[in-house]
Amino acid sequence: MLTREENDLLTRTGPGTRMGDLMRRYWIPTLLSDELPAPDCPPRRLTLLGEKLVVFRDSQGRAGLVDERCPHRNASLFFGRNEEGGLRCVYHGWKFDVAGLCLDMPSEPAESNYKRRVALTAYPCLERGGVVWTYMGPPELKPEFPELEWTQVPAANRYATRRLQASNWLQGYEGGWDTAHLPILHRGDTQNSNYFSGRGKEAVRGLPARYEFVPTEYGFVYGRGRHNPEGGLNWECALMFMPSWKMFQPFAGTDNRITLLAWVPVDDANCMLWGVEYHPRRALTEEEMAWSKSFHYIHVETVPGTLRPLRNRDNDYLVDRKLQASGQSFTGILGLGLQDSAIQESMGPVCDRTREHLGPADVVIVKLRRHLLGVLNDGGSALPGLDPASYRLRPAVFPLSGDAPLASALDAHLRIDAVALAQ
Ligand code: FES
Ligand SMILES: [Fe+2]
Repeated sequence: MLTREENDLLTRTGPGTRMGDLMRRYWIPTLLSDELPAPDCPPRRLTLLGEKLVVFRDSQGRAGLVDERCPHRNASLFFGRNEEGGLRCVYHGWKFDVAGLCLDMPSEPAESNYKRRVALTAYPCLERGGVVWTYMGPPELKPEFPELEWTQVPAANRYATRRLQASNWLQGYEGGWDTAHLPILHRGDTQNSNYFSGRGKEAVRGLPARYEFVPTEYGFVYGRGRHNPEGGLNWECALMFMPSWKMFQPFAGTDNRITLLAWVPVDDANCMLWGVEYHPRRALTEEEMAWSKSFHYIHVETVPGTLRPLRNRDNDYLVDRKLQASGQSFTGILGLGLQDSAIQESMGPVCDRTREHLGPADVVIVKLRRHLLGVLNDGGSALPGLDPASYRLRPAVFPLSGDAPLASALDAHLRIDAVALAQ
């Protein structure tokens, strides 16, 4: 349970809010590079952290993210002409470049230098891993881009999608960490799929013997330890990257790809759910891609031309009650990602955490909230996740003897450099 003040603090991300300020200290994914397919292509609308924006690609191919409202008299730049190095408002023709500088002001006398005194709010953009990223915080505090491995592998090694979820970002993020629901909400899918053959069976095998929650320089590690025949524990480690990423514990097998999700606030009642799968060493296979595009896993079918799921709350996610009754699917809803969204959206646009009754199985939810509140209260200049090299990590499952502390083993098993050296 949270107090109303704490709930507001963690869920509100608009300009001037404390969580919004925190999110603005990190590079945030905006859209896929392919969504701006060519120089001077049509601009797109985008709402991020409660700010209505327009994103465009200029004649040189540079991505620009700017305030949707023209600073002249607030017309929408979504209707702007994207031409010759800038976006031109179609009302009176004021034109701006990707940095927000006013290039032309045809409605003013030619000798006027008014255009030098008017700027459009613009946020810096970078393209990495087939995604346009932005930084919306104070320019002097802009960090280097994080060295997330999936943004550095060849395009054929990764698959990323984005789509909307009609809930506040935090209840999505909490759901991502909530391992207690795996064998229940997703029952049927996890047991009946070859893909989940390792993890699914483990998920229904009972609770792990130990949980560890280790704060790190990039966020935290959440480890679950299960007894192994040697008398030690096998630790499954998932990684939290600031501010709202989760790198999932690995699936069974040694040649499986890695999954990440991020919940990026659109406004307080909606978030953009990013789903990424990648393999560090090879291209994704046809079989893997077919699985990803079958919508049984994290990716969700959307209404063509939109980011809204085709199965959504207006059609009750096309819940199949016969399938539910058959036991093949606990929910009767297609796919893990949509099952999560359906149930998280059912909690209301912003979940009222003053009404909850948490139990021992909710430990990771409590830890996640404490972590975020702790960063908000004493992060300051020592915010986690600002060192780009700290992100050079992969998730892992590894054995440790008896009561050995998890924290001391993390670097050796999760750091890409250390793992490569040991091989
Ligand atoms: S409102 Fe954009 S140029 Fe006038
Ligand atoms: Fe889930």
